[in-house]
Amino acid sequence: MRIGVLHGPNLRLLGRREPEIYGSATLSDVDRALADLAEALDVEVEVHQSNHEGVLLDHIEETAGRVDGYVVNAGALTHTSVGLRDALVGVGRPFVEVHLSNTAAREPFRRVSHLSGVALGVVYGFGVDSYLLGFRGLVAHLKTTPRTD
Ligand code: DQA
Repeated sequence: MRIGVLHGPNLRLLGRREPEIYGSATLSDVDRALADLAEALDVEVEVHQSNHEGVLLDHIEETAGRVDGYVVNAGALTHTSVGLRDALVGVGRPFVEVHLSNTAAREPFRRVSHLSGVALGVVYGFGVDSYLLGFRGLVAHLKTTPRTD
């Protein structure tokens, strides 16, 4: 089993970006924790970050054939991108939406997600653990729900 992890815009700044909201872990720390969890669960993981919507869409199209599902922190694109939603639906792979912060407790515009309604599940507010909980949930789902293609 192979899981794709997508990090959207500005997540490369983790560790120095608004640490009171996003914490002190860097994106490398997040990726290392995901790699350790993947090893413990005996699955493969493939991570990608981009600040560019089109690059993320191309990446989804390119990787869908080799991954079984995605863990997605789309950053600000969560609140704006119908294209990202359509790409994830279009490739027919389940995905879990994750956020480090509790987006429901922040500015009103962050309460809108174009992804939640088509996600397998959503985890937010637990910092780096949001990724790890989402990853576990997705793997558990995939282990009991065989792919149809
Ligand atoms: C975020 C929340 C988004 O609203 C924000 O634009 C981000 C990070 C999070 O992980 O908490 O870039 O996705």
